[in-house]
Formats: sequence, structure tokens, C-alpha cells
Amino acid sequence: AARNKEDLRSPICCILGHVDTGKTKLLDKIRQTNVQEGEAGGITQQIGATYFPVDAIKTKTADGKQEYKIPGLLVIDTPGHESFTNLRSRGSSLCNIAILVVDIMHGLEPQTLESLRLLRDRKTPFIVALNKIDRMYGWQPTPDNDFQSSLAKQSRAVQREFEDRTQKTILAFAEQGLNAVLYYDNKNFARNVSLVPTSAITGEGVPDMIMLLVNLTQERMSDRLMYLSELECTVLEVKVIEGLGTTIDISAYVHHKEVKAALGVKIVAPDLEKAIAGSRLLVVGPDDDEDELMDEVMSDLTTLLNSIDKSGRGVCVQASTLGSLEALLDFLKASKIPVSGINIGPVHKKDIMRAATMLEKAKELACILCFDVTVDKDAERLAEEMGIRLFKADIIYHLFDAFTAYNAEIME
Ligand code: GTP
Ligand code: MG
Ligand code: NA
Repeated sequence: AARNKEDLRSPICCILGHVDTGKTKLLDKIRQTNVQEGEAGGITQQIGATYFPVDAIKTKTADGKQEYKIPGLLVIDTPGHESFTNLRSRGSSLCNIAILVVDIMHGLEPQTLESLRLLRDRKTPFIVALNKIDRMYGWQPTPDNDFQSSLAKQSRAVQREFEDRTQKTILAFAEQGLNAVLYYDNKNFARNVSLVPTSAITGEGVPDMIMLLVNLTQERMSDRLMYLSELECTVLEVKVIEGLGTTIDISAYVHHKEVKAALGVKIVAPDLEKAIAGSRLLVVGPDDDEDELMDEVMSDLTTLLNSIDKSGRGVCVQASTLGSLEALLDFLKASKIPVSGINIGPVHKKDIMRAATMLEKAKELACILCFDVTVDKDAERLAEEMGIRLFKADIIYHLFDAFTAYNAEIME
């Protein structure tokens, strides 16, 4: 496609921040969905992409004057829980712009700082959503209103609390070496970080946040958003779905014959069980050497394979996605527990058989950590017969806790 400043591709925007600051809820507000309440433990444990076509964005901003050059926005939600540094890193590495969500009642928290470091290392422009403004005592909501007119309607006490909390946040950013200002006071977008007060519950400030994103991407990043003819693509997540086999990426929408960047698509194809989240997706052109390209992609794999103990001793780990498998492997590494086998998807008999090889070598390691996966009936029965311990949980830190308790027990 010809490079043209008036014909931009969709920017990729990543939502980052400490656990429970309201990242998913903000997306729910824009999508008019309720993903957050369906999440185990109310926490996000995988990375997900949502595409917002420009028409959907227009209805959310309700401002006739705004000019739109981008066809839409691809937003990547990430988990805030400390275990998922890998997914925050993956999300932030892909994006053109980011929303860093801060709970106005809590200020900057550990994973806010971690996210800040990721964004700075990669020089990614970002805005800050100062979320949960409705939690300030006495807040009178006007659903989906723009922030400034909502603030004007508040009592003097609420306005004072808002000013205090905002000042504290600005100071905390200053301690990190950043100039943060309320977005409507921002005279220099290249130098200052914009703060957008929002509520994911009442929708207040959400139109402001979207407008700011659209403007920043259109005005300041158009060079980076012109179409390229080459494919640039990253595998976000690898997941096994019964009936479909291994699929890559997530975002179950419509069927596409052809896609124009940037979009999140789910790919169903043979041999995807070998796909690795975070790896690149390359197209083999007529002049390319397929083996060379394969080597290039395989070089991305080394860290994962390095987590398997060379001695052949260790526990087995099984998870629903590669992202959570990586998080489990990080945890086991930090706890100095060796790993002998890894897998993604439901636990079958063959997985039990593999763990059973440990019965002779190191009986206490003959177990499987199963995160957010089903264990089929035959496998369950076999595990019981053979004495293979299965640790099952759909909230990652519950699995950590259960296994840590077991590990402490066997160490005695
Ligand atoms: P993780 O993905 O687990 O890191 O959390 P998150 O940042 O996606 O936060 P989430 O959307 O799960 O929201 C956490 C909790 O805060 C939920 O109970 C939400 O209902 C609540 N919440 C989120 N945004 C707001 C808000 O603006 N106001 C109020 N009052 N509650 C909110
Ligand atoms: Mg979330
Ligand atoms: Na949460």
C-alpha cells in the first residue's frame, strides 16, 4: 500500500497498571461488556486484544468536531498481578501508545512503577488514567460525562479532595522524574505526561480518554502509523481449545478473508501446538530461505526451553496459555524447584505417565501443577492409582500457595 499520512493504520494501545486499578473495567465500559466479573478471582491472567472500529469510537466520544484519520484502535489488556511481568512486557513491546491506569485512591503502586520502567525503556508514549474518581467521598455521578463538567458539578469538598489526590500523584510522578499534568492543562505533549481522570463504573472521563488517545496517535505518530506492505505480527497468546485444537492469539470476532493492520485475529491451523507466544510470525516469500527464517524464530525459544532441568528431575507444569505457563516457570525458578516437563492445555493420561517417571527418581517431585486446565477423568483416575499429586487452581497465586505449602512439608 502507498504510504500516506491521511490513510493510517490502526494504532496498537496497551493498558498497563497495578492489579485492580480498573484496566479491564475501563475496556468493559468502552465495549459495553462485562468481562471483568467473569474473571477467576476478578483478576486478569492472560493477555487479550480488542479491536475498536472508528465508528464505535465515534459514538463514545460524542463530539461532532473531532476528525478521525485512523480506522480504529487495537487495545491490548494486560494483567496487573505481579506474577505476569512477562505479559506486561509482551503487551508493552507491541504497542504504539499506552494507557497507564492508576487508582486515584492509591496513587503509584509497585506494578505501576514496573510498567513505567517498561514504557520508558521502550520510549513508548503514554497517558495516565487516574481511575475510580467516583470513589471520592460524596461524588455525584453524571454517567458518561466529560470530566471537567462533572467536576464542576461536585461540592467544594469533593473538588478539594480531587485536587489533593491529583497533587499527590503529580508529586509521585515527579519522584520518578516525570512531569505529569492534568491533560487539559497540558501545553506540551512531548514533555509532559497527561493525566485523565476517569471512572470505569460511571463512564465519566472515558470520552476524554478516548479523544486524547485518538489525537495523540493521529497528530504525533502518523509517521509510524502509515501502512507498511510487509507483515509485522506477533503471537500474543497460545491456547488449546477442545474441538479446535491449538489456536493462537485471542479475540473471537468475525471471520476475515483479508485483514488490514492492526488487528487481533485468532488463527486456527494445523501444527499450532508448536507456536510460541511472543514469537514473531513471518511470511515465507518467494525469495526467502525457509530454514533461515525458522532458525530466526527458533532463537526466540531458548528461554522457555532453558527452564527445563537438564538432570531430568523436576515437577511437571501445565497451563491454559503460554503466558501463564511462563509465569508459573518464573515462580518455580524463584522457588528453586526444578521442572522436568511442560505442556499447554487439558491434562491427559500421557501427561500423568510423564510425571510418573519421577516416581523412581524423586518421588516428591512426581506431581503436576495444573493452572486453569481441565484434567480428564481417565487422567485423574490414573494419577490417583499411581500416586501423582495434582495441584489444581484457576487463580495463579492459589496454585503458588498450595504448592509452597506442599514444598515446605516435604522439606521437613
Ligand atoms: P487486573 O487485571 O487483575 O490487574 O485488574 P484490573 O486493573 O483489570 O482491574 P478490574 O477491571 O479487574 O477492576 C478491579 C475492581 O475495581 C473491580 O471490582 C471493579 O469493579 C473495580 N473498579 C474498576 N474501576 C472502577 C472505578 O472506576 N470505580 C469504582 N468504584 N470501582 C472500579
Ligand atoms: Mg484486568
Ligand atoms: Na482485577
